[in-house]
Amino acid sequence: MRGTVASLAAAALAARGVSAGRMIDGRLAARAADNTTYDYIVIGSGPGGGPLACDLARAGYTTLLLEAGDDQGDNPIYSELGNFNIAGNDPDSRWDFWVRHSDDDAREKAFAHYTWRTANGSFYVGTTPPAGATPLGIQYPRAGTLGGCAMHNGGVCSLAQDSDWDIVVNMTGDTSWEASKMRQYLVKVEKNTYLPANTTGHGFDGWLSTAVQPARWAHDSSLPATRVLKKLAELTGQNASDVASLVNKDILGIEPHKDTRNSFYNMAQHEDKGGKRSSPNNYIKATLKDPRNFPLTVRLHSLATRVLFDTDTKNKANASVPVATGVEVMSGASLYGADPRHASATKTAPRSRFWARREVIVSGGAFNSPQILKLSGIGPAAELAKFKIPVVKDLPGVGERLADNYEGSLLALGQQPVGGGVITLMFKTPNAAGPDRNIFTWCGAFSFEGFWPGFPTDYGPNEYECAMVHIGPHSQAGTVRLASADPQVPPDINFNFFLNNGTEDLQHLADAANLLRTAWQAAGAPVLPFAEKHPCPGTGAGNCTDAAERALLKTQAYSHHASSSCAIGAASDPLAVLDSKFRVRGVQGLRVVDASAFPRVPGAFPVLPTIMLSAKAAEDIIADAKKAVHKK
Ligand SMILES: Cc1cc2nc3c(=O)[nH]c(=O)nc-3n(C[C@H](O)[C@H](O)[C@H](O)COP(=O)(O)OP(=O)(O)OC[C@H]3O[C@@H](n4cnc5c(N)ncnc54)[C@H](O)[C@@H]3O)c2cc1C
Ligand SMILES: *[C@@H]1O[C@H](CO)[C@@H](O)[C@H](O)[C@H]1NC(C)=O
Ligand SMILES: *[C@@H]1O[C@H](CO)[C@@H](O)[C@H](O)[C@H]1NC(C)=O
Ligand SMILES: *[C@@H]1O[C@H](CO)[C@@H](O)[C@H](O)[C@H]1NC(C)=O
Ligand SMILES: *[C@@H]1O[C@H](CO)[C@@H](O)[C@H](O)[C@H]1NC(C)=O
Ligand SMILES: *[C@@H]1O[C@H](CO)[C@@H](O)[C@H](O)[C@H]1NC(C)=O
Ligand SMILES: *[C@@H]1O[C@H](CO)[C@@H](O)[C@H](O)[C@H]1NC(C)=O
Ligand SMILES: *[C@@H]1O[C@H](CO)[C@@H](O)[C@H](O)[C@H]1NC(C)=O
Ligand SMILES: *[C@@H]1O[C@H](CO)[C@@H](O)[C@H](O)[C@H]1NC(C)=O
Repeated sequence: MRGTVASLAAAALAARGVSAGRMIDGRLAARAADNTTYDYIVIGSGPGGGPLACDLARAGYTTLLLEAGDDQGDNPIYSELGNFNIAGNDPDSRWDFWVRHSDDDAREKAFAHYTWRTANGSFYVGTTPPAGATPLGIQYPRAGTLGGCAMHNGGVCSLAQDSDWDIVVNMTGDTSWEASKMRQYLVKVEKNTYLPANTTGHGFDGWLSTAVQPARWAHDSSLPATRVLKKLAELTGQNASDVASLVNKDILGIEPHKDTRNSFYNMAQHEDKGGKRSSPNNYIKATLKDPRNFPLTVRLHSLATRVLFDTDTKNKANASVPVATGVEVMSGASLYGADPRHASATKTAPRSRFWARREVIVSGGAFNSPQILKLSGIGPAAELAKFKIPVVKDLPGVGERLADNYEGSLLALGQQPVGGGVITLMFKTPNAAGPDRNIFTWCGAFSFEGFWPGFPTDYGPNEYECAMVHIGPHSQAGTVRLASADPQVPPDINFNFFLNNGTEDLQHLADAANLLRTAWQAAGAPVLPFAEKHPCPGTGAGNCTDAAERALLKTQAYSHHASSSCAIGAASDPLAVLDSKFRVRGVQGLRVVDASAFPRVPGAFPVLPTIMLSAKAAEDIIADAKKAVHKK
């Protein structure tokens, strides 16, 4: 089967005179390579675009993958997953977005890690900036590099809630999105390293390695951490006598009614058994190296500035619908303004054009995909007019409904280390909105309080934290709006956190912190008392009101799972950007495939759902291509 595909690919290549499998540095590429035509052009090599470009090339279609950054795949800062905090700070990939959480300046500047540029150009992080400093905002890191944010993320793998898939069926009638059918994409992409081969529901020969650290510490009842774990079991209706096995439960397993259960898990990560990061970067490299000569061209240092449309030469099938025909690209290093090296980099660069015989696919991530669409004339007409961008299609939902998991943390210093290992727990708080669990927490001797230049803070060996991710946030009111028509200038991003049903969602986080703090008291001597940093500063258990905790969580919440800014939606929904096949509504030959396509935040961690979505998109796109051939 594979052999047939490969021979077809090779034959197709020979016929077109295209050489297969190559990675080009856009800075150095001969201009002669410009103006080339490919079957597909994919913009962005993250979890959305990277695997998709590989899948299209492996199916025999000539594919150009454009990536603004370079390749750090062999750099141990990236290839060793354990270095993720260093990777998140590394200027070799870092894109700093300075975002807002609200319209309220006072609330923004009360964020403990609000960041300023001082008069001498350095960063100041905090609430009492030196004179002459200018406000930047709240740092939101992204990785502008081959593999996207999967190159600097924590690698945590978790499934979406079933309803996150099923809602697409409800919105669009497309039953291929049923949660039960989405698991096939996990099976397809996964190379599981921690279960017996061929365990149902898992994959063993895909490209994405998944691994866990077996947790043996919970057998030791003398550890304060084990006492905390047992208390947590009691408080969440689990068997306290069985915690040593419960902490090793498969988080990606088939588990009937999983979304309504309180459960411990062993945290899975996208890495191999030796701790090497597994990401789209590896899949791209494997595709380029494959002896079957798949027709993939990767072009680094290539910032897509807009999608080109065939609006002059009329589309024969339907003259009123614009057709995407290619992409305009700027070549050079650090071209994007979010790159910290940008200021010293060349600000102008040569622009090239590349042509797509079949389709253009935008996969720039939740901030860049809406920016690219808007720069291309697809977005709210009034906003485009403001920047004198000719309207190709008035699509009011582009850059709206930006959403994210709210995050907060219970963080304290014990009198002694708590010991043990990481506790991963998903549970439902008493006031959760629906039947589903609404909190993902992981507890251990670390500190994670969001992002700022130089994050995180090391509070020493006695630090202990339960990091909390809120699942199913109700306010999807964030926006990505153009700041300029210049493609090198990052957009204005405002998450509008807690704008709708904020009090309810904040109470979920406060309830979670209260439950976790109660469990911590089981740590006993010599750990107690904990000196709590937040959300309820002081010593003593729960020495503040829920209202005080909500207020603190409201100003200090952070996030890093942005989604839904070019969302799939019903045909009748004026804010829908995509149909259920990822096609941008109102134009032809253009799709968006990345985290921005989700109608709502997928579960607690988006990277695995995004990779699954990408595998589905590849199948849908290839099916459409085959249909088109049959019509001819
Ligand atoms: C610090 C951090 C830690 C995280 N930890 C986790 C975790 O542990 N688990 C989890 O599930 N999720 C985690 N996430 C989130 C997860 O990594 C993202 O949701 C996921 O990477 C989104 O994939 P994407 O393809 O939508 O976008 P991205 O990963 O952002 O990829 C977009 C790519 O497009 C490129 N690009 C953008 N614009 C252009 C352009 N104009 N031209 C050319 N190229 C362009 C970018 O350089 C980038 O490579 C984390 C995120 C961050 C920031
Ligand atoms: C670009 O390619 C098109 C068609 O492939 C051709 O008509 C055109 O002349 C080319 N332009 C340049 C500048 O090479
Ligand atoms: C820059 O200014 C900040 C704040 O005024 C100061 O703390 C820092 O030391 C200065 N750095 C340099 C390199 O001068
Ligand atoms: C989808 O619609 C069905 C029938 O109306 C409903 O029972 C179900 O809860 C909906 N699912 C989601 C995820 O909205
Ligand atoms: C298990 O999976 C491998 C490929 O991963 C396959 O070759 C093998 O036949 C499978 N074994 C069984 C018993 O299904
Ligand atoms: C709790 O777990 C213990 C140890 O595995 C087991 O012996 C016991 O039967 C379990 N209790 C219940 C109610 O499942
Ligand atoms: C052409 O496209 C418009 C807008 O999408 C649509 O309303 C119309 O039905 C299409 N016409 C044909 C013949 O496909
Ligand atoms: C959200 O708020 C609206 C109006 O304030 C209310 O009708 C709705 O029930 C709330 N939803 C949840 C899940 O709390
Ligand atoms: C409770 O908090 C108050 C106000 O922050 C503080 O003064 C007091 O010492 C705390 N009490 C305990 C027992 O921690």
